[in-house]
Amino acid sequence: MSETVLDVENLEVYYETEDGPVQAVDDVSFEVEEGETLGIVGESGCGKTTLAKAIIGILPHNGYVNDGAIRFRGEDLTEMDERRRRRHKWEEISMIPQSAMNGLDPVYTIREQITETIQVHRPGTDRLESDRIVDEMFELVGLDPDRADEYPHQFSGGMRQRAMIAMALALDPALILADEPTTALDVIMQDQILQRIEGMQDELESSMLVITHDVSVVAETCDRVVVMYAGQVAEEGPVDEIFGNPYHPYTIGLKRAFPDIRKSDQDLMSIAGHPPTLVDPPSGCRFAERCPMATAECEREYPAERRFGELRTYCHHADRIDEEFRPVADRARTWERTEAAGGD
Ligand SMILES: Nc1ncnc2c1ncn2[C@@H]1O[C@H](COP(=O)(O)OP(=O)(O)OP(=O)(O)O)[C@@H](O)[C@H]1O
Ligand SMILES: [Mg+2]
Repeated sequence: MSETVLDVENLEVYYETEDGPVQAVDDVSFEVEEGETLGIVGESGCGKTTLAKAIIGILPHNGYVNDGAIRFRGEDLTEMDERRRRRHKWEEISMIPQSAMNGLDPVYTIREQITETIQVHRPGTDRLESDRIVDEMFELVGLDPDRADEYPHQFSGGMRQRAMIAMALALDPALILADEPTTALDVIMQDQILQRIEGMQDELESSMLVITHDVSVVAETCDRVVVMYAGQVAEEGPVDEIFGNPYHPYTIGLKRAFPDIRKSDQDLMSIAGHPPTLVDPPSGCRFAERCPMATAECEREYPAERRFGELRTYCHHADRIDEEFRPVADRARTWERTEAAGGD
């Protein structure tokens, strides 16, 4: 049995706003095992970054953990005092932030910035040792170590992204949170970074959380996937099952919205409509309004967990997916909104 590195249980993360609390993460549970790469996928605004920030402890001032636990190797981070929490940060858990390529300080060289991180967390480290770590990390992410003494503006976007990854890896953390690691990059650079991440996974023993709206990124890099919708888990399971045989209509729709390299002539289609507001979200299934399978029950009640082998899914109609939904899920008509049936 491998060890559980991260155990998120019934987590609720809210933001205080003038309109009331935004329930950005609502009753989310999942685990990350040692050495495993878990994907968190879902549309913009579904709470992915909020989840990552809560885990590493960098929520903005109006954000707070309302309930639940975030256990790192069994210890609840939400109950840890600030000083110990800070020590944990970057040493045990590090983050490659969203738009990381803009996260470097323009007035210091890359080497100075990585060295600073190492010095803060490992004050005993001498210059030779930190230089060695910088060189090693540069090689790992596919950058020429000789260029570590350059400034961020001398690097391309893709190189800055790699430099940020090198920085996140410098302290050899047990868990790496990568928030949209390739989104800001062009397609060729995206591919190179993904290949690097895959290569790193073989070399490092770290566990990873890959956060993205891009299904193909998750399909390429992850062992297991959590599909999030409007702050909640819609479905979770091994990557092959999530994309090969999902049981949640949202996962099926999301999959349709991204190109499948094996089928070149398919119609790509995004799901019509938008996720609900998270200030006063619906009490039933949050996907009901956009779901071709939705009935009155879906709007009334939150679906209980259903299991299909290693997959867990939250859909009232999960039993009908195989026979009734899968055969028609690829048709555009299935996803057309029927205004007469209560659409807006
Ligand atoms: N500081 C904040 N104050 C209030 N609401 C916030 C704040 N940050 C995020 N939110 C809201 O919380 C919800 C989740 O946002 P979050 O950034 O976690 O989503 P995301 O899945 O990372 O989206 P994206 O794919 O666009 O990065 C959204 O409704 C967003 O508007
Ligand atoms: Mg985000």
